[in-house]
Amino acid sequence: MSAMTVKATLTVPLLDLKAQYADIQAEMDQAVHRVLESTRFIGGPEVSGLEDEVARYSRCAHGIGCASGTDALLLSLRVLEVGPGDEVITSAFSFFASAGVVANVGARPVFVDVDPRNYNLDPHRLEAAITPMTKAVIAVHLFGQCCDLNAIQAICEKHQVWLIEDAAQAIGSEWEGRRAGAVGDLGCFSFFPSKNLGAAGDGGMVTTQSATLAERVRLLREHGSNPKYYHSIVGTNSRLDALQAAILRVKLRHLDRWSEGRARNATLYDRLFEGARLGRPYRDPRGRHIYNQYVIRVPRRDSLRQHLSDRGIGTEIYYPLPLHLQQCFATLGYQPGYLPQAEAAAQEVLALPIYPELTEEQIRYVAATVRDFTDAT
Ligand SMILES: Cc1ncc(COP(=O)(O)O)c(C=O)c1O
Repeated sequence: MSAMTVKATLTVPLLDLKAQYADIQAEMDQAVHRVLESTRFIGGPEVSGLEDEVARYSRCAHGIGCASGTDALLLSLRVLEVGPGDEVITSAFSFFASAGVVANVGARPVFVDVDPRNYNLDPHRLEAAITPMTKAVIAVHLFGQCCDLNAIQAICEKHQVWLIEDAAQAIGSEWEGRRAGAVGDLGCFSFFPSKNLGAAGDGGMVTTQSATLAERVRLLREHGSNPKYYHSIVGTNSRLDALQAAILRVKLRHLDRWSEGRARNATLYDRLFEGARLGRPYRDPRGRHIYNQYVIRVPRRDSLRQHLSDRGIGTEIYYPLPLHLQQCFATLGYQPGYLPQAEAAAQEVLALPIYPELTEEQIRYVAATVRDFTDAT
């Protein structure tokens, strides 16, 4: 059937934030009004309240709000004094920020291939990438599932390199009982609207168990000033604003319910895809997966994506080109074929709608439409 003749019976967007807003509108509106009436737009009790609550939720001693997940990573590298001459190891298969921040502080990103089951940095390949120049590892918890944090932490400790967790997609996820952001020296969160805990704009947070590192992050995000107008170091302005903090505090109260809803939807998809000719997402029994994304794997991915789009179903490709092959990193000398797992994943992955407000009818419709395609090809 051609695209023109297909009539979708249902539409299923990749993400429906209107459904989320409808669920909690009264609380959200109240929180926004509270800030507007207080006129405390920068800092203040909403920001410090959220910092405490996210830290507690993530089982960390400290949380420091900042302007975005990218800034959380950038501030972390700056706090650890990573700069020219240093190497930072990260996953070849992630959102650009996981590596862009390394280049932005003047250091060299070093890419490691991923475990094809969960698309996270493969700990078995990590040690071989460490050199005397390695200063830190940025371990990305992709799609809402933690890396093997025990193995990665042990390697970092053995070689005395810093461990930064890029937990942008993984708030509340766990590895053997430890929460994302609580294991590394620093944890980095994003509150981009599509995250499980998403703001009404940009926002981010750094978490740490170390009072010293926390103090340095705080200093850097406020132009290095303490007391006000006296600058011991050069920092930047990377504040989380009070409106976003107030919204996030409301949403944090619902986060577990939403993450459980995502996991429930994933279980239903898993069942509906039993026996299908596609790769289902792997759920590691050692962890808690919060399903920021539900990502399947199919050889004719782009045709499947078109098939779904023609039938009213939104999908996304996270990510179509691995980081080591991005044009901006050409001078690093990576060639196609160097990191085959990341390269194969980039060709085959497809994220399906997984948000918690999906109805069972919508999930069954998405799964049946996927299977119409995969069973026939
Ligand atoms: C893995 C990962 N790292 C970092 C970021 C950067 O976060 P932000 O968009 O808030 O700057 C994101 C968010 O998109 C992400 O998914």
